[in-house]
Amino acid sequence: MLLQAHDLVYRYAAGSAGAAALDGASLEVQAGEQVAIVGPSGSGKTTLLYCLAGIVVPTEGEVRLDGQGLSGRSDAERARVRLERFGFVFQFAELVAELTLRENVELPVRLLGHSARQCRQRAEALMGRLGIGELADRLPAQVSGGQAQRCAVARALVHGPAVVLADEPTGSLDRATGRTTLSELLGVCAEADAALIVVTHDEAIADQLGRRIHVADGRCFQNAPSGGAI
Ligand SMILES: Nc1ncnc2c1ncn2[C@@H]1O[C@H](COP(=O)(O)OP(=O)(O)OP(=O)(O)O)[C@@H](O)[C@H]1O
Ligand SMILES: [Mg+2]
Repeated sequence: MLLQAHDLVYRYAAGSAGAAALDGASLEVQAGEQVAIVGPSGSGKTTLLYCLAGIVVPTEGEVRLDGQGLSGRSDAERARVRLERFGFVFQFAELVAELTLRENVELPVRLLGHSARQCRQRAEALMGRLGIGELADRLPAQVSGGQAQRCAVARALVHGPAVVLADEPTGSLDRATGRTTLSELLGVCAEADAALIVVTHDEAIADQLGRRIHVADGRCFQNAPSGGAI
């Protein structure tokens, strides 16, 4: 199994009396699988992606990648695994403001030590597929929210990750651009046999992914939230 989460609990403020953002969330995703994560606002979807990618460490429970525990490792080790194996599309793009779109997309492959020529070729090919090739030399502040989001998608794919986690990657796109962006995301992941996990509120997008996981009150369900927790 490529990615496993077992009984994740996450509280934003340690010792907080409030409800946990994750409250026993479990899931399993195989290599090459394409999964939609759906559920109401505030149910824990973004927090779940953060735990899966090792951006935060769950208060309880464990995440495993290729059978190896992620949660017990140091910040530096988790950052290395994230750089090498994960691609992450943040809900609000989160580009580096001082870098051009091309430099933002190149960032993961540069950090991994690939040659400048190879980085540029990969970045430009993906930016072309996502329809933002013409904007390569602009800064994030000089493009629209949807163009920034497509840049974030390119950045998540550029280093050929094993797992791509995308948090509402088409949330600020019109229907037609959203469809093209999703189909490139699906296509690139299928070509590379990468697992793709997409958080979405859009039924049409969820329908295009192979399987749905429902999140409700910090737990994962295979079908409706009234069904059994997985
Ligand atoms: N930084 C934070 N500090 C404290 N509580 C937080 C923080 N981020 C999220 N939460 C809380 O954790 C719970 C889960 O939030 P999360 O962002 O995972 O929801 P979500 O399902 O992604 O929602 P949305 O669909 O609106 O993006 C919510 O109750 C939210 O208020
Ligand atoms: Mg969210």
